[in-house]
Amino acid sequence: MAQIRLSFILLLFIFSVAWAIHPAIRGRSRARAFVEFQCQATLYPSLCVRCLSNYVANFTTTQSHEQLAHIALRVSLSRAQSTRAYVTEVAKQLKQTKAKDYPAVKDCLDQINDGVDQLTNCIKEVEMIKENGGSEFPWHASNVKTWMSTAQTDANFCIDGFGRAIGGKTKAMIKAKVLNLEQVTSISLALFNRFAARYRASHATRPKV
Ligand SMILES: *[C@@H]1O[C@H](CO)[C@@H](O)[C@H](O)[C@H]1NC(C)=O
Repeated sequence: MAQIRLSFILLLFIFSVAWAIHPAIRGRSRARAFVEFQCQATLYPSLCVRCLSNYVANFTTTQSHEQLAHIALRVSLSRAQSTRAYVTEVAKQLKQTKAKDYPAVKDCLDQINDGVDQLTNCIKEVEMIKENGGSEFPWHASNVKTWMSTAQTDANFCIDGFGRAIGGKTKAMIKAKVLNLEQVTSISLALFNRFAARYRASHATRPKV
């Protein structure tokens, strides 16, 4: 019994030492706390934490709003791409069988394609912010916001456009995927807005006295 307790204490000791000395572990847990806190400011906090906490290892500096915005955008783009892959497959099958639902799905696919383009442009634009070191920030930031909102609208159009056109499992599946994409993009936009607001605040020119 005493031995068990002793090894438990030893284990605890080893863990605390590892915790205290390993900056990577500390960095990750701080990054996770940062992600969780920032996610509270979005419309879908739990989805946000679920999507983004997988990427805490991607932070090179903890608590970076810029990195968080960038990571969230990449997650949105990858959701958009996987949604596109799924809807493309469904559209192909419906076309082959000359199903009456094909046009509705094709319209949705066009929207998703546009969304993928918008998000791809956003990522390039965010990279330019870094390259330009902040000059032209308002221009880049406004482009990113516009394109992200467009991507969100694209997803909404797809969902609305379905109406009662197609039924059953496939429709439910497409809707669920597109809805998820729309929410993840809303999260990215909220996080980008937070980053932009901070950026403007910290780079504001002081009024001359
Ligand atoms: C996280 O980092 C990995 C490895 O560098 C990279 O492949 C991946 O795209 C990154 N994910 C995001 C969302 O930034």
